Amino acid sequence: MKILRTRSEISAYTLQQKQQGKRIGFVPTMGALHQGHISLINLAKNKSDLVVCSIFVNPTQFNDPKDLEKYPRPIEHDIAQLEAVACDVLFLPEVEEMYSSDEKWELALDGLDEILEGKHRPGHYQGVTQIVFKLFQYTHPDIAFFGQKDYQQVQVIEKMVQKLKLAVALEMCPIIREADGLAMSSRNVHLSPTERVQSLALYQSLMHIKEGWGKKSIEILKQEATEFLEKSPGINVGYLEICAPNNLQNNHPATGSEAVALVAASLGQTRLIDNILLP
Ligand code: PAF
Repeated sequence: MKILRTRSEISAYTLQQKQQGKRIGFVPTMGALHQGHISLINLAKNKSDLVVCSIFVNPTQFNDPKDLEKYPRPIEHDIAQLEAVACDVLFLPEVEEMYSSDEKWELALDGLDEILEGKHRPGHYQGVTQIVFKLFQYTHPDIAFFGQKDYQQVQVIEKMVQKLKLAVALEMCPIIREADGLAMSSRNVHLSPTERVQSLALYQSLMHIKEGWGKKSIEILKQEATEFLEKSPGINVGYLEICAPNNLQNNHPATGSEAVALVAASLGQTRLIDNILLP
């Protein structure tokens, strides 16, 4: 695997590959790779000729400096995993390579960045779009792959692609779960053994909604799932919402139609999110 660390190197290499007729598949990550990321690389391999993965812990999307500091960075292990899955290129820049000190970024996202996760983490999606825009500029992807686990992030990036008329297709890839249902996340390593068991309540609350979808009203399902979470030990509920899948508005579609249920909760210091597409 080729490891490139500067904008000019990655840009020149991907452009040269495109000129040779190769379709570039891009998987942006912040590292601490798990099977969810590896599934994105595998999908990218199926759908493109050259797979570029980036690892960059993006400071502008963290609104809590402690969260940024404690974000796991097992870079040697990440590189080994990417090599094992035969990823073609890793873009691995330093912060100074991606940002100058006086940068400003503000993109109108029609309020998508201010609801759900955005309410809890003000500025988070501005930081995400800021870095993803830069990464797209330097890696020249034909298709970019994002995990459904960060459902709102996919919608926000889709909105950016539309607004800025970027020539990149987005592909949302299914959530990869542990055998007991917990959605894989780089943050799971922070869970204590007790919290790891307690964390299953998120998935169970979503399964409750899925099982009742089309049988009970949305209000009842939402109330039951929220009560279940509130009673679950160790769980501090952030939100549980059932929303229209494209604009994430919660003036719900009818029960039984297409929707997405999204949940966020904290266990101790660790905040987890999960979602499920309905029906
Ligand atoms: O999902 C992530 O890991 C990050 O938000 C992303 C898309 C790599 C941007 O930093």
